[in-house]
Amino acid sequence: MIKTPIIMDVDTGIDDAIALTVALQAQSLDIKGITVVAGNQTIEKTLKNTLEVVEYLGRTDIPVAKGAAKPLVAPQIIAEETHGESGLGNAKLPAASIQPVEEDAVAFMRRVLEESSEKITLVPTGPLTNIALLLMAYPHVKEKIEKIVVMGGGAFEGNASATSEFNILVDPHAASVVFASGLPIVMCGLDVTMKAYTTKEDIQAVRDTGTKAGEFCADAFRHYYDMYTKYTRLPGCAVHDAVTIAYLLHPEMITVKPATVRVDIDGVHSYACTASDFRPWRDKSKDNALVCMDIDRQAFVKLIIDACKNY
Ligand code: BDR
Ligand code: CA
Repeated sequence: MIKTPIIMDVDTGIDDAIALTVALQAQSLDIKGITVVAGNQTIEKTLKNTLEVVEYLGRTDIPVAKGAAKPLVAPQIIAEETHGESGLGNAKLPAASIQPVEEDAVAFMRRVLEESSEKITLVPTGPLTNIALLLMAYPHVKEKIEKIVVMGGGAFEGNASATSEFNILVDPHAASVVFASGLPIVMCGLDVTMKAYTTKEDIQAVRDTGTKAGEFCADAFRHYYDMYTKYTRLPGCAVHDAVTIAYLLHPEMITVKPATVRVDIDGVHSYACTASDFRPWRDKSKDNALVCMDIDRQAFVKLIIDACKNY
């Protein structure tokens, strides 16, 4: 089987954990490593959560590297209300015995990319700090990057503000570097991820898989579901980050639209907005992104349930 080589860059995080659950059992992905960034929680907590998830799901063969503790320029924000004090909602995992590798996230990505004979896809599901630092310090590795499939942004609506999505708002300067890098980007933003939600019944089906992964994911979902149904107009919780993995495994599930996307770092009301130009008469030679717009929700939920069954 041909496997797609990827590096995941996470700020685990409830939906990052679900993305990991789907990715870590996928036969068609070759996960070269997982780098961690501060975002949903502090770097200490996002690293702890990532190590615990990786070990719990039996993938201690995958190296985990610690990354940036703070955004490039902006003051740090975390999402404790959404992801809970630990970052994993109500889920409790055994303490991990594995350690991160000695290299930091940027050194790790640089080495893996340099040594790779094939191009690697980067899959960031947190603020883009680590990826921006990599591209700024070692621009030559761009030739080894196939594309960047990112959870972040939104063409038409924000969640952290009227015009900005959380991952981009945490580190808009990093996002600006990444979106202007010249690398092809698949933007799994709020346009699609708010359609990728799990209802109470879906979460019960996840639990009913009866596996350790199903129990973990259902526990993690509980707090997230309560938050989403209280504050948003959704009948469930948006599993944003898992959409990146769904795109890699089943692109046919997702519809995309080409666009020129730039990140606003100067605006007052549009600060951290991923301004997406879809105008038919734009200069299409400047297009840098496929913006994900829609998803087959039932197929997406089935992907999560089937992943849990495999543990
Ligand atoms: C994004 O923000 C984080 O809270 C989630 O993990 C996801 O990556 C959604 O806006
Ligand atoms: Ca995330």
